[in-house]
This record gives sequence, structure tokens and C-alpha cells, in this order.
Amino acid sequence: MTLHPHLVPLSALLGVWRGPGHGEYPTIDSFDYTEELTFTDVGKPFLAYRQRTWAPDGRPLHTETGFLRSPGEGRIEIVLAQPTGQTELAEGTLAAHDDGFEIRLRSRVVNSASAKPVKTTERVYRLSGDVLAVDFAMAAVGLPLTHHLAARLERAPAEP
Ligand code: HEM
Repeated sequence: MTLHPHLVPLSALLGVWRGPGHGEYPTIDSFDYTEELTFTDVGKPFLAYRQRTWAPDGRPLHTETGFLRSPGEGRIEIVLAQPTGQTELAEGTLAAHDDGFEIRLRSRVVNSASAKPVKTTERVYRLSGDVLAVDFAMAAVGLPLTHHLAARLERAPAEP
């Protein structure tokens, strides 16, 4: 399939990424997890995105799904659905480096009536060769923007 021209700068993301992560927030106990990200070209001017995570004992933790869009000129948008009751509209920039790029996004969040309230999130994806570092901060449950997640992913074979 031919990638839409606006998605070409993102082509290095295509495929599956997996690796360890660590989470924290002032209101909860810190935790470790394994994360898997999948970026798929579906022949349209966006990439399909799916995230899954697991606790060290194999229990499923957070998952999210969405679409990665680029209107061009280094602008990136991710439209995301969270099973915890949030929808996240993340918008920001892609800056290319010698061996990868950095995507920085801030989001507007809409919470369902029963969700723990999240006001805004900040996501940073740093691609460097075959390593994708992910950082996530959120202003949630009445706190200002505070770090929640950091993961270091590597390219992985797709699961059948
Ligand atoms: C790698 C992905 C993620 C993992 C592994 C993860 C894991 C966790 C864990 C283990 C907790 C504590 C127990 C619990 O409340 O379930 C937690 C709390 C929380 N997470 Fe995450 N999370 C992830 C992503 C997110 C995202 C994307 C958001 C927001 C859009 C989010 C928002 C929250 C909130 C609001 C809390 C509750 C804090 C509180 O109760 O004070 N998390 N997360």
C-alpha cells in the first residue's frame, strides 16, 4: 500500500513495539508493566493505533485505541478512546532528528460521568533508531500536570 504523503514522516512507527514501563502518581502505589503498541497502515490518511499493557503477573492493565493523523507540516493529532471513561484529543508536533523524531502532544479530555476526572494529558514519543521511549503526564483527580508513565519499547515481531 502507498502511504499517504502526510504519514511518510511517521512510517518508522509502523508495526509492533514492546517493552517495560514504570508508572506512578501521587495518589497511587507505583507499579511496573509491559506495554505493546501497534501502528497499522489501513490505506487511509491516518494510522490505526492500539495499546495494550500487562502487570508483571500477566494481568491486563490499561488499554487504549485510536487514530494517528497528520495534517502535514509537522503537526500530529491522536484521537483516542480509553476504557476508563475518557476520550482524549491529543495535538502537537513532530520534530525530526538524525536517527528518529520526537512527538509532543497536549490533549483535551472529555470524561464520562463515572470516570476518574482527567483534565489534560501530555504525551511524548521519542523514536531513536529501534527504540521508542514513551512518557505520559496528566492533570487528574484535582492535581496539576504530573508524571504517570514512562516506557522504553523496542521493535517486536507481530503476534499471529
Ligand atoms: C500504560 C498505560 C497505563 C497503565 C499501565 C496505567 C496503570 C494505572 C494503575 C495501575 C493505576 C492505579 C490503580 C487503578 O486506579 O487502576 C492507575 C491509576 C490511574 N490512571 Fe493510569 N494507567 C495507564 C494509562 C493511563 C491513561 C492514558 C490515563 C488517562 C487518560 C490514566 C489515568 C489514570 C487515573 C485518573 C488514575 C487514578 C488515580 C487515582 O485514583 O488517584 N492512566 N493507572
